[in-house]
Amino acid sequence: MVTTSAPGKAILFGEHSVVYGEPAVAVAIDARVEVSVEPCDGVWKMDGLSLDSGRHPHVVSLRNAVLGEDFQPHAIQVRSDLFSAAGLGSSAALSAAGCAALLSLSSQPLDEEKIATFAHHAEAQAQEGRASPIDTSTATLGGCVLVSNKREELANWKYTRNLETPEGEREWEIHSINLPSSASDIWLVVGYTGIHAPTTDLVKGVAELLSNKPEKMSDIARMGEVARNGVSALSVGDYIEVGKLMDEAHQLLVGLGVSCPELDDMVEVARRTSFGAKLTGAGGGGCMLALTDKPDETAAALEMRGGRVLVTPLGAPGVTLEKP
Ligand code: MEV
Repeated sequence: MVTTSAPGKAILFGEHSVVYGEPAVAVAIDARVEVSVEPCDGVWKMDGLSLDSGRHPHVVSLRNAVLGEDFQPHAIQVRSDLFSAAGLGSSAALSAAGCAALLSLSSQPLDEEKIATFAHHAEAQAQEGRASPIDTSTATLGGCVLVSNKREELANWKYTRNLETPEGEREWEIHSINLPSSASDIWLVVGYTGIHAPTTDLVKGVAELLSNKPEKMSDIARMGEVARNGVSALSVGDYIEVGKLMDEAHQLLVGLGVSCPELDDMVEVARRTSFGAKLTGAGGGGCMLALTDKPDETAAALEMRGGRVLVTPLGAPGVTLEKP
C-alpha cells in the first residue's frame, strides 16, 4: 500500500483576482488530506464505491493522466482533516496527494512541478476550465506560496504554469516565500460558517460580473496591488500592515459579491482580537481567517458566534510520501 498526504491552504491575498493573472499569496495549513492506494480485484474503487468521473472527477482525470485508463485496478481511500467545499483547498490537497500516490505506484519520481501540473489540470477540468494554480501549488510545495503573472523579486521562483481558460490563455509564475522568524509567534484562526460554497459557481459569478461591468476590473487590479503590498509587509514581519491589507482585501471581495452576512459577521468579530480578517477562498460561505498573536481569544470569540474553528501556524509541509 502507498500512502501520501498534502496540506490544505488558506489564501491571505488574491482569491478571484488570481484567476485574472493578479498575484495571490497562500499558506499551507496544519490540516491534511491523506490518500492510500492498494491493489484490488475487479474495478477501480474510491472509498468503497466504484471510481466514477461524475463522483470523482479529479481522481479519474489524474488516474488517466498519470497511469492511463487500463492500469490494473486499485482501491483508493481518502482521509481528510479539512472542512470540504469550504475554501481550504480540500480538492487541491486530494489532487496533489492522489497524484503523488499514483506516481509512486508506477515508480515515477515525485517531482514537485509534475505533481503541481497534473493537480492543476485536474482542478481546472473540474472547475469548467477556470482554476488558478494557487491551491494546487500550495498543496504541493507547502510553506508560503506566491503566484503572479510575472517573476517577483521578493520571492524564490519555482516554475511556470499555463492554462487555456474560457477567458483566454493564462500564465502564472509560482514562487515560495521565506517568512521571517517572527512568524512563528503569529497564528491564523480559520472560522468555518458551515455553509457549503461551490468554487465553480462563485468563479463563474465573478466572470459574469466582470463581463457585465468591465469597470470592476479596476478592483481586480487593486486586489493585485494589495497582494503585492501584503508580500512586502509579510516578508519584514509587519503584521499590523498585513492585517490592514487583509481588511481592505475583504472589502474588495465584498464588492465582487462573493461574501455573505455570516462571513461579514465573523470577520467583524475576529477583528477585535486580531491584526486583520477576511474571507478566504472562493467565498459565498466557506471560511474566513484572522491573523493574530492571540489565537485563543480569537478562536473563542468565533466559537461563541457558532463558527467551527481551526488554529494553524503560517505554513505546513507540502506533499509527503507517508508510506512508500
Ligand atoms: C479558490 O481557492 C480560489 C479562487 O481564486 C479560485 C482559483 O484560484 O482557482 C476563488
